[in-house]
Amino acid sequence: MHNKVLVAGSTGYIGRYVVQELKFRGYWLRALVRNTAKIKQDGPHLEPAIAPLVDEIFVGEATKPSTIAGACDGIDIVFSSMGMTRPDFVHSPFDVDYKANLNLLRLAMKAGVKKFVYVSVFNAHRMMEIQNIQAHEKFVDELRASGIDYAVVRPTGYYSDMAQFLNMARNGIMMTLGEGDKRSNPIHGADLARVCVDAIEGDDKVVEAGGPETFTYREVADMAAEVVGKQPFTASLPLWLADGVAAVTGFINRDIQDIAMFASAVSKMDSVAPAHGTHKLREFFVEMNRLQAH
Ligand SMILES: NC(=O)c1ccc[n+]([C@@H]2O[C@H](COP(=O)([O-])OP(=O)(O)OC[C@H]3O[C@@H](n4cnc5c(N)ncnc54)[C@H](OP(=O)(O)O)[C@@H]3O)[C@@H](O)[C@H]2O)c1
Repeated sequence: MHNKVLVAGSTGYIGRYVVQELKFRGYWLRALVRNTAKIKQDGPHLEPAIAPLVDEIFVGEATKPSTIAGACDGIDIVFSSMGMTRPDFVHSPFDVDYKANLNLLRLAMKAGVKKFVYVSVFNAHRMMEIQNIQAHEKFVDELRASGIDYAVVRPTGYYSDMAQFLNMARNGIMMTLGEGDKRSNPIHGADLARVCVDAIEGDDKVVEAGGPETFTYREVADMAAEVVGKQPFTASLPLWLADGVAAVTGFINRDIQDIAMFASAVSKMDSVAPAHGTHKLREFFVEMNRLQAH
């Protein structure tokens, strides 16, 4: 008999693929969802609808503990990729990445859950000035100290993020930060989902993961332009200017500042993690381009 798994973040890019992978491996699944309208729809980056894949939907908002009471009852393993990836102008990253996940962890411990697997970020220790990263790592500290069996998955950028290069190519203006010469191996959601479910089943406490191909950001931009079939105007923002812009946006909104700081940080260093999976970025771009052309 397979374990019962609760997936938080199940309506997001990674969560949807983790739901699919868990179902494929025969697990019983409960999805924690705050917006039921999303469960029947495919995601915006080709990721699957979860309604046909899950055994149970639990509707609740992990930022409000009273709404998730009972979510972990009868559950063996909690997987969470719940996190704030864009500003919602209501919550801060501390409200979601830290506190909402902590609410879930406390519930899991009370319900006798055996293992908690959490998705943080690759190279987090090199970006601790960013509040979103601080929030992730504050939760990782809680998880480590909790005494529950756990694993932390640390991925590089997702293919869903690389789709921004396609959008820029289509819009005719390609913005790059610095020289675009830093290297990374982004990962497809389906490949990362396999890594996440392996982490559920394995003993490693920390799992770093990137995709099978390594590119400079300039190469990703060129590939996006080639797939879209347009030669966009390329504007290269010097890194010192990007940092200045990030500092100024901090006076307007801390969450937008976070995004600017993150973009600047990853443009200054290589982010190449151990390679996993088989999905090629070009094929993802071709499929996304076909979808967006309709
Ligand atoms: N994108 C990257 O390149 C990258 C790289 C490394 C690590 N990560 C981390 O990986 C995690 C998952 O990323 P992703 O791309 O799958 O994110 P995503 O597509 O934005 O999905 C985030 C999930 O968290 C939920 N969520 C967001 N705000 C919430 C709130 N206030 N209350 C309850 N649930 C909330 C979302 O629910 P709704 O669908 O209802 O909004 C969704 O299910 C994030 O923590 C991210 O920081 C991302």
